Formats: sequence, structure tokens, C-alpha cells
Amino acid sequence: MTTAPRHAIDALFLEERTYPPSLEFATQANARPDIYERDWEELWEAEGRERVSWFKPFDKLYEWEPPYAKWYLGGKLNVCFNCVDRHVEAGNGENVAYHWEGEPEGETRTITFADLQRDVVRFANALKKLGVEKGTPVGIYMGMVPELPVAMLACARLGAPHTVVFGGFSADSLSGRLNDMECEILITQDEGWRRGSTVPLKKNADEALAASPGVKRAVVLRRTRSDVAIEDGRDVWWHEIVEGESDDPSSCPCEEMDSEDLLYLLYTSGTTAKPKGIVHTTAGYLVGVATTHHYIFDVKPDSVYWCAADIGWVTGHSYIVYGPLCNGTTGVLYEGTPDFPDKDRWWSIVERYGVDILYTAPTAIRAHMKWGPEHAEKHDLSSLRLLGSVGEPINPEAWMWYREHIGGGRTPVVDTWWQTETGMILITPLPGVTTLKPGSATKPFPGVLPAVLDEEGNDVGPGGGGYLVLKRPWPAMLRGIHNDHERYVETYWSRYEGLYFAGDGAKLDEDGDFWLLGRVDDVMNVSGHRISTIEVESALVDHQSVAEAAVCGRNDPQTGQAIVAYVTLKGGDEGDVEKLEELRNHVAKKIGPIAKPANIVFTPELPKTRSGKIMRRLLRDVAEKRELGDTTTLADPTVVEELQERASTERED
Ligand code: PRX
Repeated sequence: MTTAPRHAIDALFLEERTYPPSLEFATQANARPDIYERDWEELWEAEGRERVSWFKPFDKLYEWEPPYAKWYLGGKLNVCFNCVDRHVEAGNGENVAYHWEGEPEGETRTITFADLQRDVVRFANALKKLGVEKGTPVGIYMGMVPELPVAMLACARLGAPHTVVFGGFSADSLSGRLNDMECEILITQDEGWRRGSTVPLKKNADEALAASPGVKRAVVLRRTRSDVAIEDGRDVWWHEIVEGESDDPSSCPCEEMDSEDLLYLLYTSGTTAKPKGIVHTTAGYLVGVATTHHYIFDVKPDSVYWCAADIGWVTGHSYIVYGPLCNGTTGVLYEGTPDFPDKDRWWSIVERYGVDILYTAPTAIRAHMKWGPEHAEKHDLSSLRLLGSVGEPINPEAWMWYREHIGGGRTPVVDTWWQTETGMILITPLPGVTTLKPGSATKPFPGVLPAVLDEEGNDVGPGGGGYLVLKRPWPAMLRGIHNDHERYVETYWSRYEGLYFAGDGAKLDEDGDFWLLGRVDDVMNVSGHRISTIEVESALVDHQSVAEAAVCGRNDPQTGQAIVAYVTLKGGDEGDVEKLEELRNHVAKKIGPIAKPANIVFTPELPKTRSGKIMRRLLRDVAEKRELGDTTTLADPTVVEELQERASTERED
């Protein structure tokens, strides 16, 4: 384990506050205490039968041949039908699916389930004309506009698997994903809005497409109306291709999909430079996200639920699009940043729409803490009933602040642990049932069986810390890494025989509650986003003047972790502020602005073992400005001393 999680353990030992559910919440909660007593197979069987609609019911609950699981075998269904059509057929077409709020103030749209169906059908009909059919891989690179879920649902309707690439990623990151999935079509937009300025999505896409010869067509949504290049024969405007298309659902029936057909790939960072295409299939994923969404967020028919994540990450896939829509929930979709034009933007949204459930990340909560409670105080937040957190460990102070200043001291806060790979939330309180502890994700979701193990694979037991594993399959679990069986086995299944290794440290307390401690591998968690050290290193070394680079994360009060890079320049160049900016921008260009190092330390040498391995452990010590660990294996001990000196004078971003 790295030293950082050990710090977290120390801090957590001090946390003894508990919040049992209020009677008021408990009596109306979707979850009842007996849910924990249900047999796990019976639970998933019942949820599978009742929570989704089948064209043909499944005949077998699951099949588990480690490391691959299949769920709801023999079933036929369609995700778009479940998320859209069936609500309209049930007479709920006039219910709002999304209250959309653009970043420019005053720009809003109300999209009912009937509107969503019309938009999806028209767009799916247009995609068909571009050659999209069952099995055609589609890339999506957009901002937080209503057309993003429309595009995803249209793909699901046609049985075309998608990969959504977060709009903050660079052209290189986009083309890497398009090529890996062998996408034939890309759906993008002219530009996105971000904090009052624009993100050149189409321009990035053009650059990406130059390196992705398999993509034959690009659909471009008009958003900011800026002038963008349109390549004849390849690019088409969204508004032009839907013109004249039928919006009658019978003109484009939902494709009958097998339970185990691919729904989407979502790429995530690992410990090598190449992102992993995480495979999610149809039925188990849908049942998993809809079930967890129902019980954990306690959604009611009149709820206005807001997950303030980006759809480009798994949180948005599972808890903005597929889970909530499957449950027929009214959601808020917000395009912009929390501080535009002012730091109370979120709270004005909560007030105006009467949001009762808010789900966000610790990094956002910490940003609001820093800005101060006065922004929230300007608004009536009494509609809020439940708050959620995801993406990284939430420190107890942030949890308390969230509950006090946003939740008025009365709302439960559910800290939900999960991953891109798990597809759905796995460790979480159930509001109305579980006693909450600030900083703890508390209990496994019913049916889920995690454990905390030591190096040898023994259960650490109450009070112990170690590695988090999952001992039993769950419906929304990943079905592998796209085209890479070996990496799948190596990453998740080789540490402990037959057990899923999550790559996170965890601690169990005396009550058996889980406290998550962050990543134990070379993956950093920056503002809740997983970024691997090696990806940033590769981006740095890609710059012509860089000879060698080593990257690590250091604790950061705002972003959880911040990226620190140690760089040796070619030809003995010592580097300067301009070079530093140039390298930071280079990383932003190669990967995306989220991966920009917060600081770069130039050094003539990196600390290495005698066998030439970079000692990241020491780099982390230097970055954290703490005493160095064991340095006896260093080839040249003076290198770190020099580094410590340099680090103490380094520039902070
Ligand atoms: O380290 C854990 C952290 O985020 C990682 C998963 O990242 P990603 O696949 O990008 O998905 C993020 C959203 C689900 C985990 O391995 N993480 C996520 N939620 C929590 C968390 N760490 C502590 N507490 C959480 N609630």
C-alpha cells in the first residue's frame, strides 16, 4: 500500500459520529431493513423480472465461469424500449424526462418522455440511413446537451454499441478510442460551452478523424453556431439529417437484443498507457443500474433527481441516462460548470426545479466549501431530501459540510462506492435503513459480497485495513476488456484466485462498515477522474524536448490528488517557466486538460533502483514534502536530495 492511504486510515480512526435514519425518512423509504435478509439470487431474480420489460423473459439467472459472468440468460429486451417507449405506452409520456439547463443563463428545455421518444426515433431513423445497424460501433463526443442521451438511446434502439468519449478529452484520446472500438460513425457537435467560453469539439474531432480512417461519417450537432469545417461526403448536420424523418416509434422498432449483447464500451485508465475498453452488456447492466438507483436514491414518482456528473463518465451513463430513465425518473441535465456565471448556479438550479435528490462528487463539494456557504444560503434548498457522493473518498469534514449547508442538517448523505468496471454502485448506505457515518460508504448493496483482504488473501476482519475484493458476481459487472482477455485477467483476477480485485484499499470498522481509502496502484484520482501515471508520462515523453518523465499524485485539498511530474529534458536543458507551460499544454493536448500536471519539477536525474526502475514511492514522498522512505536501493541517493531541494522551490499551479 502507498503511504497516502495510511494517512487516511489514521484520520478515519478518529471519526465516531453516527447518524441513524430518521423515523420520517424510514417510514417512506423504498428500502426496508429486510432487504438485507433476502437471498441474493432471489433478489436479482425478482428485480430482473419486475424492474425491466422483456420481449422474451430470461430462463436462467446467471452463469459464472470466472472471470466471466453472464446474467439473465436467454432473455430478449431493448434498453431504449425500457428507458423511453414503455413509459409512453404506460401513459406517462407527459412526464418530464429531463429539465435541461444550458450554461448560458436563461436557456432551458423541458423534455418529456414523449419528446424523448420522438427525438430518439427521428435520430435513429437518420442513423439508419447513414448505415448504422445492429452491431455498428458508434463513437459519441459531445457536451452535456439533451442530444447526448438522445444519441446514446438511438444507438441502443438500433442495437449499435456506443462509446461516449468525455468532451474534455483531446483529439488523440478520442482517436485512440475510436480506433480501438473500430467505430464507423462519430456523433459530435460544433462546440461545447464551458465556463463562458467554448470547447472546440468539432475541431478536435476533425483532428481525431484524420487518425481514425475507420470512421466514415460524422454527425455534427449545431450548438454554439460557430463556424466549423464540414467535410463533404463525410460530415452531416444533425438538424439536416433528422429533417423529414418519421418520429413514429413503429417506423423504427426497438431491436430485439440478447441479454448479453454489447450495450457500450467505456474507456478507463489503468496502469499502462493504453486505456481499457470496459465492456458492458444489456440486461444485467440495466437491471443493476435501475435497481440500485431505485433503492439508493429513494426516487419517487414525483422526484426531481439531479446527478451533477458528466455523461462522459460512468456515473453519467448509469445514473443520468440508463438507471433513472429505466425507472421513469425526472432528471436535471446541466450543461455547464458550477461557478458560471456565479458560484450559486447549482443552488439556483436546485431551487428553480425543486430538486429533491442531488448526487455529486467530493471534489465539487470541496469547491463549494472553499467558496463558502453564503452562495447556497441565497437559495431555498428545502426541496432536498437526499444527497449522494461518488468518485473518491469523501473526507468527514466535507461530508458534514454537505449535510449541514446543502442538506439543511436533515438529509441523509449516501457515499456510494463503485467503478467504471462495476457498472453499478456496490457499497453504499440505503437511506432510511443504514446508520450513516461521515466518510464511510458503510455496507455492501444487498446481494453484493465484498471483502477486505491482506497480502496473503486472508480476511482482515473488523478493524483491519487491506485490499478490496468482490467475492461474487453482480449483474452490471464488466464482461471483460474489449479485445484483451489477458489484460482483463491480469488486472482484476490475478491478485487473488477467483476474486475480483478492485485496486482500492479499504478498512473495515468494528461494525463491519467499509471505509474506502483510494487507489493502491499507479492510478491517480484527480477530481474523481482516474488517470494513470504512465499515460501522463507517455504524453510528456512524447514532447520533443523531454528525455524522461516520472509522474505521481500528491494529496490535494481541492482535487483529492494533484499530478506532479518530474521531468528530465534532453541535452542537459535545465528548463524554465516557458518550458513548464509548454509541457503542461502538451499533456492537455495529448490527453485532455484534466491530466495537466499541477506542477512539473525539472531534474537532471530521476531516482532509480540499481536495476533502473523509477522509484515512484520516493517521488510521492518528495511530492508530499515528507520524510523519505527507505532509500537503500537507490542507485544514486543524491538524486532525491537534489529533488527535494527543487521541489521546495517549485511553482504551484
Ligand atoms: O478509487 C475508487 C474511486 O474511484 C474509482 C473508480 O473510478 P471510476 O471508474 O472513474 O468511476 C468513478 C465513479 C464510479 C474507485 O476505484 N471511488 C469511487 N467512488 C468512491 C471512490 N473512492 C472512495 N469512495 C467512493 N465513494
